[in-house]
Amino acid sequence: MRPTVLVLNGPNLNLLGRREPELYGTVTLAEIEARCHAVAAEHGLRVDFRQSNHEGALVDAVQEGADGIVINPAAYAHTSVALRDALATAGVPIVEVHLTNIHRREAFRHTSHSAAVSDAVICGAGAHGYELALLHLAELMGEEGRG
Ligand code: DQA
Repeated sequence: MRPTVLVLNGPNLNLLGRREPELYGTVTLAEIEARCHAVAAEHGLRVDFRQSNHEGALVDAVQEGADGIVINPAAYAHTSVALRDALATAGVPIVEVHLTNIHRREAFRHTSHSAAVSDAVICGAGAHGYELALLHLAELMGEEGRG
């Protein structure tokens, strides 16, 4: 069976495409999901793509387990110790994604609790960031598999 990557999306990302398009672009989450499935398949991976507006549901999803995680925690990156703790015990490679460059935005977005427990962070590359994250995760998972 192909290893599974959980691609997990936090609050308000269900509105992508019509949510502040000047910041987040016009690509929808469904389009990002389709692209993730395609990229993952090219690397022998399977994607379990999810979105929730609820902190606990995101924690539950992490606890369900996967072979690797790509996460855009959205606002919970900046606020959720619970999500950070769930990721810290996941025991699999993790790449965090933000569509925008959070370091170029308001000061409250400059800290990410989840980034501190992730292997890599890609921010500011827009929807393309998800593809980059999957490529890097495939690399990390390959290393783990060989190790
Ligand atoms: C975001 C950045 C967060 O600060 C914000 O709360 C989001 C989206 C991004 O993808 O750029 O909801 O994670």
